[in-house]
Amino acid sequence: MEKAKPTVLVIGGTGKTGRRVVERLTARDVTVRSASRNGAWRFDWSQSETWGPALAGADAAYITYAPDIALPGAVEAITDLIERAKREGVRRLVLLSGRGEPEAQRAEARLMESDTACTIIRASWFMQNFSESVFRDGVAAGEVVFANGDVPEPFIDADDIADVAVSALLDDGHIGQIYEVTGPRLLTFREAVAEIAVSLARPVLYVDMSPDDYLSALRKAQLPDEIISLMSILVKEVLDGRNAYVTDGVQRAMGRPPRDFTDFARHSIASNAWDNGS
Ligand SMILES: NC(=O)c1ccc[n+]([C@@H]2O[C@H](COP(=O)([O-])OP(=O)(O)OC[C@H]3O[C@@H](n4cnc5c(N)ncnc54)[C@H](OP(=O)(O)O)[C@@H]3O)[C@@H](O)[C@H]2O)c1
Repeated sequence: MEKAKPTVLVIGGTGKTGRRVVERLTARDVTVRSASRNGAWRFDWSQSETWGPALAGADAAYITYAPDIALPGAVEAITDLIERAKREGVRRLVLLSGRGEPEAQRAEARLMESDTACTIIRASWFMQNFSESVFRDGVAAGEVVFANGDVPEPFIDADDIADVAVSALLDDGHIGQIYEVTGPRLLTFREAVAEIAVSLARPVLYVDMSPDDYLSALRKAQLPDEIISLMSILVKEVLDGRNAYVTDGVQRAMGRPPRDFTDFARHSIASNAWDNGS
């Protein structure tokens, strides 16, 4: 990039990957706009009038779509954002996408066709879903319930995603690339929970339900329809075995292997991720 100090917009800047991207960019002396509904810069996917002020004057943007790129509506919103970013003169776009998700792959295609200097990071399930998101409280309480059917998944560390994203935002060598990023190993959810339990040195049970029973349990617990739709896509499609293979995306992008699940578990324990404040 020509400017001595580029300005980078991070959409979803308080999220699992966005927060890490913000930290890394700040350490690289970049002017960072951390944007979300409650972020330092206001940005709401459901209110397009918030997009222009966040994009104006930015050199590059990291795009994480909320609520989830697998859900209907993501393609239209991301396509509109790409157009708006071009009008505002944003010269580089990096999109966080998901593997084996038809809606996500359609959004990727729109970006690749957009005549923008862009990079796509197509990620497997995040390790941090166990420490910062959907399974965090279950691990802390000693029981994780899900519907995985023992299909293995190559979990990726969100720190690796952030490393790839920052490199793609600041360095020219990643333009036009689709990096399918996974961790180095396939693990079932049962095995992942067992690894965490060993590192924690206390029991954490994994309970596997059928997809339909799991979705019924979520409905009974009165979770929002959007979450149930997302979980349905995840347990019935994304985790049906189509993604049960390891890729070399982190190695290709960064010239080093991805972090292992055991390192993630140890690091999470060191940062008290599963403490209950007692
Ligand atoms: N988790 C996985 O395993 C996984 C795997 C592959 C791909 N992905 C994709 O990763 C993306 C999520 O990224 P992430 O995990 O880094 O984020 P995240 O941890 O899910 O956090 C969501 C971020 O988006 C913001 N946000 C929520 N609703 C918003 C809205 N209506 N408008 C603007 N911002 C909003 C949140 O901040 P506020 O609350 O302040 O708005 C927060 O910064 C999704 O598109 C998902 O499909 C996830």
